[in-house]
Amino acid sequence: MLSLVKISVFLAGVAAAQEATYAHRIFHDFRSLDGSLYTCEPANITNDEQSSAAPVQSGYLTSDAFVNDFGIQTWGAPVSETSPVRKQNSNQNVYIERDEDGSSTHLVLRAYRNEDFISSAEVESKVSNIFHASIRVRARVRGDAGACAGIFTYYDDDNESDIEILTRDPTNHIRYTNQPGLDEDGNEIPGASTDAVMGGGAVWTDWNDYRLDWTADLSVWYLNGKLAHIKTYGIPSNPSTFILNMWGNGGVWTGDMDIGSAAYLDIEWIEILYNTA
Ligand SMILES: *[C@@H]1O[C@H](CO)[C@@H](O)[C@H](O)[C@H]1NC(C)=O
Ligand SMILES: *[C@@H]1O[C@H](CO)[C@@H](O)[C@H](O)[C@H]1NC(C)=O
Repeated sequence: MLSLVKISVFLAGVAAAQEATYAHRIFHDFRSLDGSLYTCEPANITNDEQSSAAPVQSGYLTSDAFVNDFGIQTWGAPVSETSPVRKQNSNQNVYIERDEDGSSTHLVLRAYRNEDFISSAEVESKVSNIFHASIRVRARVRGDAGACAGIFTYYDDDNESDIEILTRDPTNHIRYTNQPGLDEDGNEIPGASTDAVMGGGAVWTDWNDYRLDWTADLSVWYLNGKLAHIKTYGIPSNPSTFILNMWGNGGVWTGDMDIGSAAYLDIEWIEILYNTA
C-alpha cells in the first residue's frame, strides 16, 4: 500500500511539473542556417597554442541572438586525483555543421583526445539565475568511447541536475543524475545517479528529444515526449546556469579516450522555459 501511495504522490507531482508556468523562454533552432557556410568540421585541436588562439566560428555563433543567450567557454581543468587527463575547452570545438546530405545544419560540441589533453567543448547560458525550468534539447551523440555529453543545470557540485550520455555506454543507455552523486567518503549515493535504458527502442546515436523539468520538489526527465525518470533526491535548491558540454578527463565516470579519437554532441534546437530567482 505504501508504494501505491508513493506512486500517486509522484504522479500528482509530475502533473504539477507539467502544469508549471514559466515567464521566460530561450529558443535556438540551428537547423536552417545560411547555406554557403559551415561546410566542414574545424581542425582538431592538437596543442595549447591552437586551443587558445582559436576564434569563435563566425556566423550564427557570433550573432547577437546567440551571444546574448550563450557563452562558449575556454577554461581548463588540470590533472587531479580523480581526473588523470587534463581538460581544456576551446572555441574551435563548438561549431555549426551541415548534415552529410546537405539538407540541414546543427550545432556541434566536440571532444578530441590529443597526446597531452582532452580538447573539450562547453556552452553556458548567460542567465545564471534560472530557478525552475523545463529544458528541452533535440540532440544526437556520436564518436569514440571515453567522453561524456552533458545537458544540465549547475549552481555548484551539490546543486546540479544532469542528463548525461557516456560514449563508453551501450547506445541505448542514458544517465539521469542529481548531484551530489558521491558521499564524503567517495561512495556512490543510492538514487543520485540512474543508468537508464532509453525507452521505445531509442539510441543516442539517433536524434532524440531530451527534456528535464526542474520544479521545487521533483526532477522529471522525459525522452521523446514520454516520462522517463523521476527523482526526489537532490533537487537543486539554488538558482542555476544551463550548460551543454562534451568532455572527458580520463576518470572513472567518462573512461579515457584513445589518443586521436573524437566524440560529438550534435544539437538541432534548444528550448529553455524558465523562471528566475
Ligand atoms: C578529428 O578527429 C576525428 C577522430 O580521429 C576524425 O574522425 C575527424 O575527421 C577529425 N577532424 C578533422 C577536421 O580532421
Ligand atoms: C545546494 O546548496 C545548498 C547551499 O547553498 C546546500 O545546503 C544544499 O545541500 C545543496 N544541494 C541541494 C540538492 O540542495
